[in-house]
Amino acid sequence: MANLWVRKPLSQLLAQAGDSDKGLKRTLGSWNLILLGIGAIIGAGLFVRTAAAAGGHAGAAVTISFIIAAVGCAFAGLCYAEFASMIPIAGSAYTYAYATMGELIAWIIGWALVLEYALGAATVAIAWSEYLNLLLGGVVPYEWCHSPMESVLVDGVRHAGIMNAPALVILLLLTMLLIRGTSQSAFVNGIIVVVKVSIVLLVIALGWQYINPANHTPYLIPADAPAVTLSDGSVYSYTNFFRHGWGGVLTGAGVVFFAFIGFDAVSTAAQEAKNPSRDMPIGILGSLAVCTVLYILFSHVLTGLAPYTEFMQAGKEASVAYAITHHMPAEYAWLATSVTVAILAGFSSVILVMLMGQSRVFYSMSNDGLLPKVFSDVHPTYRTPYKSNMILFLFVGGFAAFIPGSVAGDLTSIGTLFAFVLVCAGVWLMRRNNPDTARPFRTPLVPLVPILGMLICTAMIVGLPGPTLLSALGWMILGLVVYFGYSQKHSKLQK
Ligand code: ALA
Repeated sequence: MANLWVRKPLSQLLAQAGDSDKGLKRTLGSWNLILLGIGAIIGAGLFVRTAAAAGGHAGAAVTISFIIAAVGCAFAGLCYAEFASMIPIAGSAYTYAYATMGELIAWIIGWALVLEYALGAATVAIAWSEYLNLLLGGVVPYEWCHSPMESVLVDGVRHAGIMNAPALVILLLLTMLLIRGTSQSAFVNGIIVVVKVSIVLLVIALGWQYINPANHTPYLIPADAPAVTLSDGSVYSYTNFFRHGWGGVLTGAGVVFFAFIGFDAVSTAAQEAKNPSRDMPIGILGSLAVCTVLYILFSHVLTGLAPYTEFMQAGKEASVAYAITHHMPAEYAWLATSVTVAILAGFSSVILVMLMGQSRVFYSMSNDGLLPKVFSDVHPTYRTPYKSNMILFLFVGGFAAFIPGSVAGDLTSIGTLFAFVLVCAGVWLMRRNNPDTARPFRTPLVPLVPILGMLICTAMIVGLPGPTLLSALGWMILGLVVYFGYSQKHSKLQK
């Protein structure tokens, strides 16, 4: 009879971490890890969802929404940092759960991480496709850059999507880069991060002088804010509790949470870090801190340039470029174009780190026998899990080509928040089960920090749309079928 709660002994995990001759190569230093984090973090969340949260829920107070989401992430980040410094092997939350809460929970979390990383990569690939078409002046026909679940009415004729081809192309290119090697990927990621952080800083510095204080007064959307007419003719009213005042700020936090997803991806690269016990906490908390400061300043400038209602109307799409074009002098047209180019590059690094994170989680699950061996086969020369990368390309590509971005995006948030909750619980459990194991980084105020992390992340899950929660439940049920049908029988620990 298999034991669902069998835990992987810490000593075995640590031995595995030390045995790096056969496996992944240790090439990443603390700066690489911070850059890896920023590479995964700044993306569609900042450049697309900030305006959506400000326009629909929080107004100028979207800065406070960012602070709330950041606090939830910081609690989870502190817990991730303890685990990542303690168990520095690939696999992140999955591995931590295997050591603390047993095989079944580990499997569940690994399965949830697919939502975060694989669907996260698909979501951003879809956003990449939209921005590329914007930059190219719409040369890709609607049918070839949308999923079959989407359609548009043009002059009374309905055009339905066939597949999102540009999303597939970017996924293929980045998969090839990943197969080539971790340090190559980290190098390309580093360049992209410099480009995207520079553009964020430029928008903050140049836009600051064009902030119109009237756009920041009142700071929260008032309950009696007039309704706005949207581009499809419908009317959007702010009377609902979640569309003004503090209720709106809270919903805004759920919307911009997506912008923080990715700092935990640093922990998936633990087995490729040169000095994981020191550098993992630096990478995780450092990238989170840098991005939080940038987000608050950036959203302050963006909502200062344009009235929040414009982000529901003409400025709904490509909101950053819109605010620059319409609310800064004409001589800044170059800035609007550079923003679009930087966004394309920025999205690429998010996809890159997500794809990398996913293949590293599968690498660990496969090493443990829970997934077929093909997911842990390492390339003879490049020493990357190349077969896994190729299979993932097919899987992620399938989602990106045939599923709308909004669906993939919300599923990403659910999977991530769920993983955060379990990591917070895990740190607490591990303190009780293995109190004496060396912890190069200790989460402060345990159990208070883990409990607060669990509470805030659970609250954000509950706020997500019902149908998406049901899809996530369906995915998890499928995961249980795979576990009992395959993984449990092949688990090395069970043997
Ligand atoms: N945080 C990443 C983004 O905003 C997922 O694109």
